[in-house]
Amino acid sequence: QTELSLRPQKLAQYIGQEKIKQKVAIYIEAAKNRQESLDHVLLYGPPGLGKTTLATIIANELGVKIKTTTGPAIERPGDLVALLNELEPGDVLFIDEIHRMPKSIEEMLYSAMEDFYIDIIVGQDATAHPVRFPLPPFTLIGATTKAGMLSAPLRARFGIVEHMNYYTDAELAQIVTRSASVFSTAISEQGALEISRRSRGTPRVANRLLKRVRDFAQVAAKEQIDLEIVKFALEMLHVDERGLDETDHKVLRTMIELYGGGPVGLNTLAANIGEDTETIADMIEPYLLQIGFIKRTARGRVVTPLAYEHLRLPYTKN
Ligand code: ADE
Repeated sequence: QTELSLRPQKLAQYIGQEKIKQKVAIYIEAAKNRQESLDHVLLYGPPGLGKTTLATIIANELGVKIKTTTGPAIERPGDLVALLNELEPGDVLFIDEIHRMPKSIEEMLYSAMEDFYIDIIVGQDATAHPVRFPLPPFTLIGATTKAGMLSAPLRARFGIVEHMNYYTDAELAQIVTRSASVFSTAISEQGALEISRRSRGTPRVANRLLKRVRDFAQVAAKEQIDLEIVKFALEMLHVDERGLDETDHKVLRTMIELYGGGPVGLNTLAANIGEDTETIADMIEPYLLQIGFIKRTARGRVVTPLAYEHLRLPYTKN
């Protein structure tokens, strides 16, 4: 198919995560040769790195359908039964945020994953008894930002477990260039690299910034997105040279101004800047840790000299 979509449809179009791609290509080919369903796959890592995209590609490459849901959307056993009931042999069931599934549902998944059946309790009180429903062989692909929050028995039932990493600037520049061509928008190499440098290693961020910069370029009647318009637009958006936005700055400044650079606990920090703890833990902290602007200690988070330098503040601690 020649249709150009922002999300790549085939493994060969997927940029980055090279080691994962190599391995997954082999597992897919082997499963197809054996005419078996692919083993269950767990993808974990920070948000926006393409876990959903990769799950969709895996289904495409297997030549099967994919059903997509999220952990918190599966509230009752009946919800899971309904999902599993629609699967045809070999299909993929994709559960995003799988760590947020209710415990009771998680337990039903054990037998579904291991032996392709579920037991459903029928009747009430004295007449309550399990009825066994066989399932077609299927592949569960789970995605989570924190594998540590999955129970050990659930984690153990994934035969393929892959950690997604932040992308390099060069990889993001390829993604941005590809996305620009999907939008039929011209972009210079320098422009694409500048967007990449400010995208926190994250394709979702890169594509979002590209869309905003494209608006600026269009209104400024630029015939292509160049370095100048990228810098201008991202300054307007308060996205700095390292990709930090106002929330990141608020976090760092709060840590420095109210707590002398730390250590500060995550909950304390969240209360002070009016974000919830989850958001800070999942969306904000991982990248600040990755670029070495904060460090984790036993007593909380501390701001590093690197961050002070970036904020042009004197480092006064020892
Ligand atoms: N769009 C979002 N993520 C991508 C990736 N990893 N490769 C290509 N295009 C993408």
